[in-house]
Amino acid sequence: MTDHQAEYDANLANWDERVAIHFDSPMYREHLDDLRAGGHCLSATHVELVGDVVGKRLIHLQCHMGMETLSWARLGAEAVGVDFAPSAIEVGRRLADELALPAEFVCCNVYDTPEHVAGKFDVVFVSVGALCWLPDVRRWARLVAGLLKPAGLLYVNESHPFGDIFDDADDGRGLAIKYPYFADGKPLRFDEPGTYADRDAKTEHNTTYDWAHPISEVINSVIAAGLTLERFDEIAECVWPRFKLMKQVTPNLFELPEPMNRAIPHMYTLVARKK
Ligand SMILES: C[S@@+](CC[C@H](N)C(=O)[O-])C[C@H]1O[C@@H](n2cnc3c(N)ncnc32)[C@H](O)[C@@H]1O
Repeated sequence: MTDHQAEYDANLANWDERVAIHFDSPMYREHLDDLRAGGHCLSATHVELVGDVVGKRLIHLQCHMGMETLSWARLGAEAVGVDFAPSAIEVGRRLADELALPAEFVCCNVYDTPEHVAGKFDVVFVSVGALCWLPDVRRWARLVAGLLKPAGLLYVNESHPFGDIFDDADDGRGLAIKYPYFADGKPLRFDEPGTYADRDAKTEHNTTYDWAHPISEVINSVIAAGLTLERFDEIAECVWPRFKLMKQVTPNLFELPEPMNRAIPHMYTLVARKK
């Protein structure tokens, strides 16, 4: 029994159940259509900041169904996706076969990655909705440093933890501060049916535990692991409907109504390099 096993078990049951729903959702269907059309589903910012991946080894931690992992493979990387949800990894493997892309998928808790993956990587890629599922960001940063080759790049595009302190107000007319920015390592428990990709989906495994990590904790963990911070951006745009109040303006852009739009950061990007 590892520390936090009960929380991991609940989160795994929740994620595993949501894979089939996500696969059929318009949000992920759009990504799959891009891949099936011979393109990729990465944002222009990801592609620009990660840079040329041709012939590089890239590992995508908490890859979900692997659509971004497969996108990096399409751009020339030798890609590995890691996730603990067996159904997500099964979809990734099936799509790699269907699309004939050089991506490998590994099913394990992210902290156990080195036991399941051989060799070192030029790029560690982490995208939105990953770090909140991990109790210990310092341990995660040490894991990342261990996976990277010298001069290897860490690219993180994540949900901004300041945005995480809010939720829709009970009267549905605004946002209210509902969660701590400084949770001091204590998990927050949520009981929510549905998912961000389909709020009305019928689901059974609705309990999750997540961990709030202030920005300073993430940055200091990366530095403490021996990486050099090269870039940090805070982003006003949101790529998923974080609040019920948000309206979809493009397939990958959700906005709060004025005057709240652009009032808070929704995402951040961090780029760091191993010495
Ligand atoms: C929000 S999703 C990532 C979404 C991805 N960026 C995308 O756009 O498809 C979070 C993923 O983290 C995985 N996950 C959560 N906790 C994990 C853990 N401890 N080890 C490995 N994977 C984990 C879940 O199974 C899920 O696929």
